Amino acid sequence: MTDHYLAAATEIIARCRALAVHSEEQGYLTRTFLSEPMRSTHITVREWMEQAGMNVRIDHAGNIRGCYGGTESGRRLLIIGSHLDSVPHAGIFDGALGVVLAIGLLQILDGRRFRFPIEVIGFSEEEGVRFGVPFIGSRALIGELDGALLARQDPQGITVSDAIRHFGLDPSRVEEAAISQDKPRYLEFHIEQGPVLDSLGLPLGVVEAIVGQSRLDLQFTGQANHAGTTPMNLRHDALAGAAEWIAVVEREAAAVDDLVATVGRADVKPGAGNVIPGFVSVSLDVRHPSDTARHDCVKRLTQKADQIAARRGLTISMESRLDQPAVKMDAGFTNQLAGAVERCDYPVKRMNSGAGHDAMIMARRMPSAMLFLRSPRGISHHPDESVLAEDVAAALAAGLFFLEDLERHDD
Ligand code: GLV
Ligand code: MN
Ligand code: MN
Repeated sequence: MTDHYLAAATEIIARCRALAVHSEEQGYLTRTFLSEPMRSTHITVREWMEQAGMNVRIDHAGNIRGCYGGTESGRRLLIIGSHLDSVPHAGIFDGALGVVLAIGLLQILDGRRFRFPIEVIGFSEEEGVRFGVPFIGSRALIGELDGALLARQDPQGITVSDAIRHFGLDPSRVEEAAISQDKPRYLEFHIEQGPVLDSLGLPLGVVEAIVGQSRLDLQFTGQANHAGTTPMNLRHDALAGAAEWIAVVEREAAAVDDLVATVGRADVKPGAGNVIPGFVSVSLDVRHPSDTARHDCVKRLTQKADQIAARRGLTISMESRLDQPAVKMDAGFTNQLAGAVERCDYPVKRMNSGAGHDAMIMARRMPSAMLFLRSPRGISHHPDESVLAEDVAAALAAGLFFLEDLERHDD
């Protein structure tokens, strides 16, 4: 690996660290859809994009977009993107690395242009933390940020439309965010967020498919009452019911190959040590490469929740937040990416992604491909998430071969 790429990689990692300062919580990275820290993130990212020779705008869905024009009109647009929002107490590379690496890739071109134009996008929302529904930014790109999604409320009762307005943007103009160019293509760099590449000692992986995911919210309602005076047989404890069901979720998921199911959030009310919990809201996240297996699992788990609630005298309500099918990356485009990895003398590891990505939304409208970078120790969605400078340098080298290959074979 040349010193040139390693120096660029070191700067990219430093930039990810610099972006992590823009957070809703001191000492941790938490950056949700169009929160105030996203505004300062945009200021910094805009500066870097402009330094790399891009014209920058923020669309009305809050995506930051840098255009790097081509030398010939009528050529197919290449979009390179990832997301700038995060989960609570996040790692600093999930999403941000893909955006910063794309900017770094254009920066090492040092002013050189291809015949085709490139647009680098920092998506405003991918994680689904604030509104319970992910991919708000990339949905806007493909023209699927609809009225129902704009009307969705966060826990404070603020709608997606309100959030857009408070950020100084115009929700009535989100459709202007949709890609209008003919036959665009999409490339995403992302950390693997799992242990596969690390266990094989490989810096890069080429994504073939992204598994499908279901996300639901379930509310268990019982009767809040005095913890000292209410005998055990006369209780309707919402948390005890939810806990029984969470144990079922873990057991059911472990019994099916390749299935993962997670209850990652539980809100307990009223939330005092001497009050029987009267209300619990929990999330459910289910993923599997087969959509049928995933749907079957969700059906079984919701039936179990009904049964547990009925037996305990609780009422239950459920709301589906996401039913995202598994998505295959474009075979030809992915082969081109694999070719670029080979040109760098790295073995090509083809793999599925268990994490969701903006690429799964973009793939509905355009050929899409993803390059994974090794996640040391497979840790992600956690502050210990990391990346190696050599791997970022390898991704830059493969990215450059990929752009050159597109230039040679561009139609
Ligand atoms: C995004 O990180 C997801 O897979 O939940
Ligand atoms: Mn994530
Ligand atoms: Mn991500």
